[in-house]
Amino acid sequence: MRLVLLGPPGAGKGTQAQKLVAKWGIAQLSTGDMLRAAVAEGSPLGLEAKAIMDRGELVPDRLVIDLIDARLDGADAANGFILDGFPRTVAQAEALDALLEAKQMRLDAVVELVVDEAMLLKRVENRIRETLQAGNSVRADDNAEVLKTRLDAYRKQTAPVSAYYAGKGALKQVDGMAPIGDVEAALHAALTS
Ligand code: AP5
Repeated sequence: MRLVLLGPPGAGKGTQAQKLVAKWGIAQLSTGDMLRAAVAEGSPLGLEAKAIMDRGELVPDRLVIDLIDARLDGADAANGFILDGFPRTVAQAEALDALLEAKQMRLDAVVELVVDEAMLLKRVENRIRETLQAGNSVRADDNAEVLKTRLDAYRKQTAPVSAYYAGKGALKQVDGMAPIGDVEAALHAALTS
């Protein structure tokens, strides 16, 4: 199973990706996680990405395309993968098409988690509370001010990606406002129908 999971910040992409990893034995390829790991390591990529991520803007396409290129045919993705947070621009979606073609792979599904933006701040606030309760550090971009920029980037740069896949007849939509277990069931139904 090779899948793209789309949706705005806080839509539940990471939550659902982890459930699919457990269920299908496939890899979660999250560009956000890869970039945060690079920032934590202090690698040249991390140094280039950190300030951009902290502002809530998108990092340059070439950085994330290279990250994904290196991971699509990794050993952990032998059974398939979930692209979580990639592609986030139409240029990234076009680059993904080219990478998949070169690797003789194809996507099985593109699913968008559809959510009401007004709820996203509450979800991010919940995540901050849970992170602090667990004794972990809160993401630098998880606050009300930066969330506005992240949502703005989503509307301007990522919403057209849904239209890109819809135009190819490849987009499925799932209600991301339902309880987590119901979203999981709807996603399963969308992937197996
Ligand atoms: P990234 O890490 O991808 O963050 P994001 O898309 O903003 O997504 P989040 O991780 O905030 O949300 P999510 O949809 O995974 O929701 P979650 O499951 O955690 O990107 C971070 C940054 O990296 C970007 O801003 C950019 O700078 C850079 N970047 C990354 N990829 C890039 C790319 N391709 N191109 C350029 N730049 C890139 O859920 C959120 C909370 O809600 C959790 O607390 C969860 O428990 C809760 N929740 C989930 N589902 C439900 C539900 N159904 N009901 C109630 N609560 C729920």
